Amino acid sequence: MDYPKPVITQQPLISPRELSQLALILSQREPPKVIIEVGSYAGGSLRWWADHAAPDATIISVDDSTMETVGEHAEASMRLNETIAELNSRGYDAHRIDGHSHSPETLHAVREILDGRTADILFIDADHRPCGVVCDVEFYSPLCGGLLVLHDCATTGNDASRIGPHAAYSLLSLDRFSMLIEDDYGIGVVWME
Ligand SMILES: C[S@@+](CC[C@H](N)C(=O)[O-])C[C@H]1O[C@@H](n2cnc3c(N)ncnc32)[C@H](O)[C@@H]1O
Repeated sequence: MDYPKPVITQQPLISPRELSQLALILSQREPPKVIIEVGSYAGGSLRWWADHAAPDATIISVDDSTMETVGEHAEASMRLNETIAELNSRGYDAHRIDGHSHSPETLHAVREILDGRTADILFIDADHRPCGVVCDVEFYSPLCGGLLVLHDCATTGNDASRIGPHAAYSLLSLDRFSMLIEDDYGIGVVWME
């Protein structure tokens, strides 16, 4: 049986209401100069971050092109490459690391690009299993000196994919200033500075 070809969106997979509240938080701060995004899909949220960053910001995307159903992900991966090229043509220093976020090689590649700098924004929106999110936090949070942002943290609704991000958010926020944008899928913001 032929299934319809999935439509690949280059819009963020985040609701406009969530994004407007996140933008409000960002508007109180210096525009980020270094951003790490773990989980980029076709590049929608990466472009959103770029639009809220310093004009020459370093923007690093970590996404594994082998993760999801092959046909869909091959196209999403192409779109992500286009987004990276577009950001570089607009003056950003954009990089794509095509690898599993839990692999030491991927972490090493991120560190090489950072070259001793810390990230002003670390956005995690990849493996939503509790062990997956916690592993991403353990790997990449030491590289973040600004805001750690987790998608899908809402406690409302009955979507099991929010359990992992919410658990990671709860742990991180125990001893740090934090804010939960409890709208739609939910965004957890933790101040790591
Ligand atoms: C929810 S989508 C990201 C959506 C994107 N942030 C946006 O709003 O436009 C999750 C992405 O993370 C990738 N991913 C999931 N687990 C991963 C992992 N462990 N390492 C790297 N990429 C992963 C998937 O392949 C997918 O592209």
